[in-house]
Amino acid sequence: MSTPIPGPPAWPFIGNLRDVNVNDTVRCFGELADTYGPIFKLHLGGDDRIFICSRELVDEVCSRKEFVKIPIGSIKQLQVVTPDGLFTAPHGHEAWAVGHRTLLPAFGPLSIRAMLPEMLDITSQAVLKWARFGEHNAINVTEDFTRLTLDTIALCSMDTRFNSFYQNELHPFPQAIRTILMGAQGRSTRPAWLSSFMWNEKREFDGANEFLHKFAEEVITKRRNSPPIPVKQDLLDAMLNRKDPVTGKHLDDALIIDNMITFLIAGHETTAGLLSFLFYLLVTHPSAYTVLQKEVDDTLGNGPITIELISKLQYTKACVREALRLRPTAAIWGVSPINNPDDADQPIILGNQWLIKPNQTVLVLCPKLHRDPSVFGVDADEFKPDRMLEDNFKVLPKNCWKPFGNGARACIGSDFAMQEAIVATAALFQKFDFKLADPDYKLSVQQTLTLKPKGFFMKAKLRPSID
Ligand code: HEM
Repeated sequence: MSTPIPGPPAWPFIGNLRDVNVNDTVRCFGELADTYGPIFKLHLGGDDRIFICSRELVDEVCSRKEFVKIPIGSIKQLQVVTPDGLFTAPHGHEAWAVGHRTLLPAFGPLSIRAMLPEMLDITSQAVLKWARFGEHNAINVTEDFTRLTLDTIALCSMDTRFNSFYQNELHPFPQAIRTILMGAQGRSTRPAWLSSFMWNEKREFDGANEFLHKFAEEVITKRRNSPPIPVKQDLLDAMLNRKDPVTGKHLDDALIIDNMITFLIAGHETTAGLLSFLFYLLVTHPSAYTVLQKEVDDTLGNGPITIELISKLQYTKACVREALRLRPTAAIWGVSPINNPDDADQPIILGNQWLIKPNQTVLVLCPKLHRDPSVFGVDADEFKPDRMLEDNFKVLPKNCWKPFGNGARACIGSDFAMQEAIVATAALFQKFDFKLADPDYKLSVQQTLTLKPKGFFMKAKLRPSID
């Protein structure tokens, strides 16, 4: 016997559409969790979605092999663009396994450390822009961190410069990515028959898709015809020259292109949101701000930033982790049940009482999981970076902090993102003092595929030591 999963009643045809605002779903799901508890069900887009919020349930889902990634929603819509990309490929897809095996070493600690000069190169452009901007002008934080993360991933993954800090308009490549992301999100919220009548949207989406593929093809041709000297060991080099350790084969061009586009899509908005939330949390929490500033000063002084010094910035790292806990920018990720590999006839029961059916997707609601009071205590809603210092972090209960997803399908770029965020924070704190542009600003959140602060402006004053 199983217990019915709670949730608001669904209406014929529209299911639970009236219970959520499609532009602000994450907040709505959080409110539903407050009403219905750690597990609840909604009928959306023709399917049941089971939301889970407690560490206990998430731990169970993360540990059981019957739950795998089957793309739904916007990720499914992105399959038109990158069918074989690491992010969009469904569980069991051979192209995913080949790409994953071949690319994993390129995202390993040694490779990521070697990307420090490129990360510093782009961060120094942000420093220059903010220094020239002056202390009285308000910086649009999320826009500039989007420039920073986009240019960093483009430089590190395919040795391409978008020069976003030198222009007001976005480069056509990120513009095309925006069109694709907005299109995928829109398509995921309406029935397919309705999308098929939206000819303008389809023309723009297809045009952007074609542009991305052509651009990536040209980057590959350029690299093959005139490789940089000395050899550049970036992600493109790994994709062109490494062999899959199992099949011994190189990746074919279609797979390389899908993954080049994937890195740009998956690798910039999430980190831009992280840096924006982090800076918001720091400027509104003076004690954490002061400890981080002191750590940067004591460790880096006015000197050059090296990878050895970056690894000493343990409080800064804890602040990044704590920002990801309170404000996970990829707020929801999902898994679907497949037959138990050891016993296909076993129904899938979660928490000893809730039956999960084959057509139901289980979604982990990270903003709620990350504030589970049974793990993080009564002050779970507060920004307290100390709880994420290494000694505390490593004894946290398993699967209570999941901003990067789970298992084999977890984020391949997590080390990249962590290093990028720490480097950018340290380099910016080395040069500037920061404060809210509007002292009365109250955080509001903007949701696209990922979450970012909305309307957050900051002022940056050059610090006396480097005048
Ligand atoms: C997957 C979060 C940065 C590339 C994921 C997933 C999450 C995530 C939650 C799992 C999605 C799912 O299960 O459906 C984040 C966050 C980031 C970040 C919060 C920054 C703060 C990056 C960066 C890159 C990247 C910088 C590329 C350099 C990918 C890829 C996947 C992925 C390729 C798919 C992995 C696979 O299934 O094999 N990310 N990500 N991400 N991420 Fe990230």
